[in-house]
Amino acid sequence: MKVLAINGSPRRHWNTETILEHALAGAAQLPDARTQSVRLYPMNYSGCIGCYACKQRGKPSALCRLEDPLLPLLEIAQEADVLLIGTPVYFFTESAGTRAFIERLLYPWSAFRAGGYGTRRPKAMTAGLLYTLAGTEESVSAHGHKHFKDSTEQFFSLHFSHHELLLAYESLHTTSYDKLELDSFDPEARQKARAERFVKDCKRAEALGTALALRAKAAQSPM
Ligand SMILES: Cc1cc2nc3c(=O)[nH]c(=O)nc-3n(C[C@H](O)[C@H](O)[C@H](O)COP(=O)(O)O)c2cc1C
Repeated sequence: MKVLAINGSPRRHWNTETILEHALAGAAQLPDARTQSVRLYPMNYSGCIGCYACKQRGKPSALCRLEDPLLPLLEIAQEADVLLIGTPVYFFTESAGTRAFIERLLYPWSAFRAGGYGTRRPKAMTAGLLYTLAGTEESVSAHGHKHFKDSTEQFFSLHFSHHELLLAYESLHTTSYDKLELDSFDPEARQKARAERFVKDCKRAEALGTALALRAKAAQSPM
């Protein structure tokens, strides 16, 4: 079983990478799991350019036609049984690099049939979307910003056989708040959240990885 982790954070070894590693470790608990982890930000690629090459009448393609360094990764993603995507929340949505990846992966899968919107996914696949964000659970809902997950989730529920979301709130921005102008955040509270809440979130991520891999495996097993 192929498990692919896509890291949509530009920062190494920080919140997103850590939580994604836990999800991957959870999936790796299945003996036949073959895991691969890829960081998006070192790659030089763009989002969808709207060329519609994937929508040519009579020969639509479930794989993006734009030949750039992302294309080989999209090909690998097409073959995955479990896709784990980790992203920081930037301005109430996924990071630009993550969104660009999602555009390139899912627009070719999107089938605009006369009867309605459907999927042209190449195979059944489970997916995990792991968000890390600085906001508290309360502030995010109070500001009405939960739409960022609702909109992405609509597409995920259509294109993946099963998907799970995990939001890790109150992330630590830095180890030295004294050097940065981030004064609306209480450094002590952040450190505490990192030591307690984030540790629990990592455990949840691990359980999520295992659950998604088990589902993918169950879908593969002959009845
Ligand atoms: C450009 C930028 C925009 C951000 N926007 C938000 C936001 O809208 N909501 C939020 O809760 N946190 C926001 N944050 C904080 C990050 O989402 C948070 O610190 C995240 O855990 C960073 O992930 P990383 O440690 O993997 O880089 C933003 C950070 C940056 C750099």
